[in-house]
Amino acid sequence: MYRDHTCGELRISDAGKKVTLAGWVQRSRKLGGMTFIDLRDRYGITQLVVEADAPAELVDAANGLGREFVIQAVGTVVERASKNPKMPTGDIEIKLDTIKVLNASLTPPFTIEDNSDGGEDLRAKYRYLDLRRNPLQKALQLRHRICHETREYLDSKGFLEIETPFLINSTPEGARDFVVPSRMNPGTFYALPQSPQTLKQSLMVAGMDRYFQIVKCFRDEDLRADRQPEFTQIDCEMSFVEQEDVLNMFEGMMRHLFKTVLGVDIPNPIPRMSWFDGMDKYGSDKPDIRYGMLLHEVTGQAQGHGFSVFDGSKYVGAIAVPGAAGWSRKQTDELTEWVKRPQVGAAGMVTVRLNEDGSVKSSVDKFFSPEDLLKIAGAAEAKTGDLLLILCGDKRKTQTRLGQLRIELGNRLGLRKPDVFAPLWLTDFPLFEWNDEENKWDALHHPFTAPKPEHLQYYYSDKPEDILKVCANAYDFVLNGTELGGGSIRIHNPKDQERMFQIIGIGKEEAERKFGFLINAFRYGAPPHGGLAFGLDRVCALFGGSDSIRDYIAFPKNNQGKDIMLGAPGIIDQKQLDELQLDLRKPE
Ligand code: AMO
Repeated sequence: MYRDHTCGELRISDAGKKVTLAGWVQRSRKLGGMTFIDLRDRYGITQLVVEADAPAELVDAANGLGREFVIQAVGTVVERASKNPKMPTGDIEIKLDTIKVLNASLTPPFTIEDNSDGGEDLRAKYRYLDLRRNPLQKALQLRHRICHETREYLDSKGFLEIETPFLINSTPEGARDFVVPSRMNPGTFYALPQSPQTLKQSLMVAGMDRYFQIVKCFRDEDLRADRQPEFTQIDCEMSFVEQEDVLNMFEGMMRHLFKTVLGVDIPNPIPRMSWFDGMDKYGSDKPDIRYGMLLHEVTGQAQGHGFSVFDGSKYVGAIAVPGAAGWSRKQTDELTEWVKRPQVGAAGMVTVRLNEDGSVKSSVDKFFSPEDLLKIAGAAEAKTGDLLLILCGDKRKTQTRLGQLRIELGNRLGLRKPDVFAPLWLTDFPLFEWNDEENKWDALHHPFTAPKPEHLQYYYSDKPEDILKVCANAYDFVLNGTELGGGSIRIHNPKDQERMFQIIGIGKEEAERKFGFLINAFRYGAPPHGGLAFGLDRVCALFGGSDSIRDYIAFPKNNQGKDIMLGAPGIIDQKQLDELQLDLRKPE
């Protein structure tokens, strides 16, 4: 037997027990002739001690230990002279009888501490060492808990966990596909699923009624802190449901997860907001409602004063930063530069200071009297002491920029507190958005999303202004400014599905090739159905209070989509290429 207790287990009530522990040497130090060793495993750290008068071979063994050696230690639990109240095992130590080295270790390339001294690349290369660090151990434990409680909840509601294949063909989530060549069918490729969307709908046609899967999805898209090329969804689908049924079911799931995993009660019911309100008030399709600083349209008040920048814009919008009237010129200039960065894309920004002494000062005083500025401030619900920030241009683009600015200010002002959870359902999305680059309509979610029944007249209209009016029977679950999940009630008859493909310009032949099986399935008694998927990695990161999902994935990819530890992606042998009948062009 390697051990009879873990390194996180022993307490003062165990004093006097003879125990055997096994684990990694976190550190060892000599003090007044004694040697202290911190022994670590997944469960915690226990202090071992070799007394000054211990047998020479035990002292030698203790002295020979290096960081990350794997040892087995036998000894007696004793009360510590100087207790450490910060450690659960801090009241005791193990007075050692023997030490056995189970495996030596090279000196690790970085410290295995909460705050490691290793850079990102180095830690990625030695991910198995990085994962030994406490924060990452905790992160994966949290992920396990979330998965476990998800299964508990969904099982209790009658959902069946059903696996779907990875080697499939293109699925329509709007990203590029990862493709896999087929050896048995030369010249053809599988595509890895961007989500199991079409398969879960097929399962509804198959009468499974309630499906879920904790499943890998693959999307070849640009990476960010909350995006990985392979990530995990809690993917769900239900038959004979309307939007209300789905929202209730998954509010219940999120409430269960918050309660069981974090001990937190989230609002009941979870507030709802239309996509249009999200854009108008927060400049975002994932509003962070933990704080105010809402957007206000001031077009009426801002135009007609001879300032051509405002006069020539479709929309002028403002946010008021509370108590910021006294910010220095340098600060507001820097903020102006911030909104002009390509990632935000504003041409410039107008500032108005509502000074504490009642005076008003703006960067466009030439065109606006103090009274004019106060009218704008009134429309923006700004108060004395506030700083008003104004952007103008195309309506949705400007709102999005103001939304980005609002988030940036929320970060700078410490308003986005990680321990405050403000969930939200965003509903009533437009079904379509105009794609300027390709001069065509796109489905805002995916092309299986049903229009709201009351908008079917617009859905079958040929006028672009009607198409714009069609709202989707879709919903997103948003938490603290992150889209955690999204879904919809689906189209379940061939006619509506064909119309969808027609509007977004997927020809009959392409639709047949890619999704023919689903359209055909709809001809054999498809039940009304709907569902959604949560991004598990994002749920974990938010529960853990982090911005980055990488810490919650055992083996994540870096920003270039590479796994440095595995050396993936890598080149393949000529033999493999030959078998696949593939010729490679020289990389550009
Ligand atoms: P959607 O594309 O909105 O919907 O994805 C659902 C959720 O998955 C998460 N997510 C990601 N997480 C990490 N890295 C990524 N690259 C990534 N992309 C998406 C997000 C998102 O909310 N089939 C539909 C769901 C449905 O309609 O039922 C779908 O995949 O948290």
